[in-house]
Amino acid sequence: MAQAAAVGALLGASTAFLAPSAAPAPAPALRGAPHSSRDSTGPGLAGAAGVGAAALGLGLLAARPAATACRAAAVKKKGVKVVHGKEIPWNLFSPKAPYQGKVVENDVHKQTLTEPTGDANWETTHVTFDHGGKVPYIEGQSIGVIAPGPDKKGEQPAKIRLYSIASSAVGDDQTSKTVSLCVKRVVEVDGKFANRQKGEDKPDKAGTAYPENQVYRGVCSNHICDMTPGDEVLITGPTGAEMLLPEDPEANIIMLATGTGIAPMRSYLRLLFHDKAGASSDGGRKFKGKAWLFMGVPYSKSLLYDDEHQTYKKAFPDQFRYDYAVSREQKNAAGQKMYIQTKMAEYAEELWEMMQDEKTHVYMCGLKGMESGMAECFGPIAEKNGLVWAEFAKAMKKADRYHVEVY
Ligand code: FAD
Ligand code: A2P
Repeated sequence: MAQAAAVGALLGASTAFLAPSAAPAPAPALRGAPHSSRDSTGPGLAGAAGVGAAALGLGLLAARPAATACRAAAVKKKGVKVVHGKEIPWNLFSPKAPYQGKVVENDVHKQTLTEPTGDANWETTHVTFDHGGKVPYIEGQSIGVIAPGPDKKGEQPAKIRLYSIASSAVGDDQTSKTVSLCVKRVVEVDGKFANRQKGEDKPDKAGTAYPENQVYRGVCSNHICDMTPGDEVLITGPTGAEMLLPEDPEANIIMLATGTGIAPMRSYLRLLFHDKAGASSDGGRKFKGKAWLFMGVPYSKSLLYDDEHQTYKKAFPDQFRYDYAVSREQKNAAGQKMYIQTKMAEYAEELWEMMQDEKTHVYMCGLKGMESGMAECFGPIAEKNGLVWAEFAKAMKKADRYHVEVY
């Protein structure tokens, strides 16, 4: 564990799993992961807290030699996955043996992250769970949550739902013992499905209720949004290798998020511009590239983490750019609804130039429609340059520079 912490300190980086060649081999805590270390709450790793501590870093590290990777791949370890030659935490807890965490905070802001808009599904919350250092993760991963149910077919407990992690590896409190999510409460009134008949809907934690209507309340999102500190939560994972940060501290990061798709972006931004783990010895940040966030939401009352983005913009004007598209309040010059791709089209040339640089990575998270939005935005400019956008995007994907998580 001491060694794990030392590795973390040496690297000062989120993926201390991804120890550079000069560093000691990965945290011994990970290696042994003895079965006997399981506690009553699930398959905890011995010293997993050490893993969390080791995972203090920026994924922005020098690559580890292939030989190390091969060695890691040859001996298949429980709880880790080798991605691009680096070990990352992986499915330490399964649906059959989840980790039982506790809610430490729900709604960091006055009420929720968003304000009522008149829509039934107006609410998005930021919730933090204590994982005691047993569920280490890195920026860009997800965890699963198991709600008590009943689920759609009556299952109890419900099937797991995945949530992108909204905190950096060290957690919001930088102890490596917490994980935060950004969860939108699913509420549908007089829609195709109902799990509350007329007269049955009761006010939720935010006070919203539709007793006169048939209502469908999402099984897991309502479970999470209604949590209060001290409540127990069943967690699986971590999982996900699609949205990991690049190694290069000089990489440029273009982030496209609709709604709760902001979650992984928040985890990156905490590491890049907020956490001690991302600070360099010269008083600046380890991250030396440019980060540009495009965020799409329906109303200005739904602008998630806007205060944090404004703070980064003020503190790092040369490194952080922030643009948002408020679909139901803004229109472009042609009178079209302002979607994220409509906003990006205003900077199409500049973004296109950035994407030609092999140091530039694109991260996209949120609604499925975003990918076709990219094609709409960059199709014409690709064509002007004698290229086909779909082919260009495919090549970027192959080079691991185009990361998509839509749901
Ligand atoms: P459910 O109860 O699963 O309902 C979902 C929909 O099912 C409703 O629209 C309902 O109309 C419909 N439905 C109800 N009954 C039926 C039926 N019988 N047949 C068919 N359809 C029916 N969400 C977030 O809020 N934040 C995140 O950061 C986030 N990250 C994600 C990351 C990944 C990788 C993935 C895959 C998903 C992510 N999600 C995220 C979505 C999340 O996993 C859940 O899908 C979401 O919270 C809704 O779950 P629920 O249990 O509340 O709703
Ligand atoms: P709208 O709902 O006005 O059509 P949320 O998840 O909070 O609802 O936010 C999702 C945001 O993404 C909304 O502003 C929504 O707009 C917008 N949106 C919907 N469809 C697309 C699409 N195909 N491409 C980009 N953004 C979209």
